[in-house]
Amino acid sequence: AQNIYILGIESSCDDTAAAVLHNGRILSNVVATQEIHKKYGGVVPELASRAHQQNIVPVIHEALNQAGIKKEQLSAIAFTRGPGLMGSLLVGTSFAKSMALGLNIPLLDINHMQAHILAHFIDEEGFEKPKFPFLALTISGGHTQIVKVSDYFEMEVIGQTLDDAVGEAFDKSAKILGLPYPGGPLIDKNAQKGDPKAFDFPKPKVGDLDFSFSGLKTSILYFVQKKLKEDPQFIEENLEDICASIQHTIIKILMDKLKKAVKQTGITQIAIAGGVSANSGIRKTLKEAEQKYQWQTYVPKFEYTTDNAAMIAIAGHFKLLTGEYASMSTTAKARIKM
Ligand code: KG4
Ligand code: ZN
Repeated sequence: AQNIYILGIESSCDDTAAAVLHNGRILSNVVATQEIHKKYGGVVPELASRAHQQNIVPVIHEALNQAGIKKEQLSAIAFTRGPGLMGSLLVGTSFAKSMALGLNIPLLDINHMQAHILAHFIDEEGFEKPKFPFLALTISGGHTQIVKVSDYFEMEVIGQTLDDAVGEAFDKSAKILGLPYPGGPLIDKNAQKGDPKAFDFPKPKVGDLDFSFSGLKTSILYFVQKKLKEDPQFIEENLEDICASIQHTIIKILMDKLKKAVKQTGITQIAIAGGVSANSGIRKTLKEAEQKYQWQTYVPKFEYTTDNAAMIAIAGHFKLLTGEYASMSTTAKARIKM
């Protein structure tokens, strides 16, 4: 493992991203976020696919430029095979295939959700890597899972959402409050100035290690409708408290299940991954759990939380070491199991 250069390509949703990794260290990490979806209050698959087609060449050029290497120096190309939006995945998949073919280097197919977790293994000063086995709470716009991670590619989902993902709960709540898409970061921002105990929202009753967030969204909708009838200024005047209370409820739901998972598995090493792990309240609560419950917790560097290609590249690094290359007949897959 002397001079391994991996190009990672991510195009599963609405971010076109490319990154170059050298022996586990990130040399460049470029993301083109598609602004077009803001207008529609959510990701429009057709537009996402078209934007990926426009962005992919410049983004990859930029990643190679910033890394200061030529494409001929690449050892392998890693790409997101799924899960994600089919039209979006196809752009990255086709591009990765033709580039690997042209350069005659290995092609590595990566599971997006595994990559979110493997982002913890990027060499970063000040960031410790989790040791196997550990539990990963993967929270994004499309997924909410508790995963038992026994090895780089040995992952078992032991709990998951039965309806909406956490990110959706954030984004849909934000939409009800009149905030633009994606609302998660805006709820986070407002919550920092609000009282988390100001309003009480019900927590779902779901068995095992599973989650449910659709009830929360409905209760917020009713709450807002009722309050607006009494006072049309209510949301504006109480936005920070409402956001803090919503975020507090979501964190409580997540922490309760994590505690249960720790009890069930006896594993006290906890890593968080996925876009929602950028949330400052979640990051803070998890760090507090180190003292409170004697857990060892791992919170990724901010730029490796939301969709990025650095995580695809590091997953590719470990895939390359296993020797499991993808064939040229590999196709994108909208749904893939862990
Ligand atoms: O992992 P990601 O970038 O894309 C998916 O694979 O889904 O996650 C995006 C999700 C969105 O729902 C976004 O609102 C949420 O992550 N998100 C946040 C924060 N930053 C991003 N949610 C809450 N607080 C944040 N700071
Ligand atoms: Zn993601």
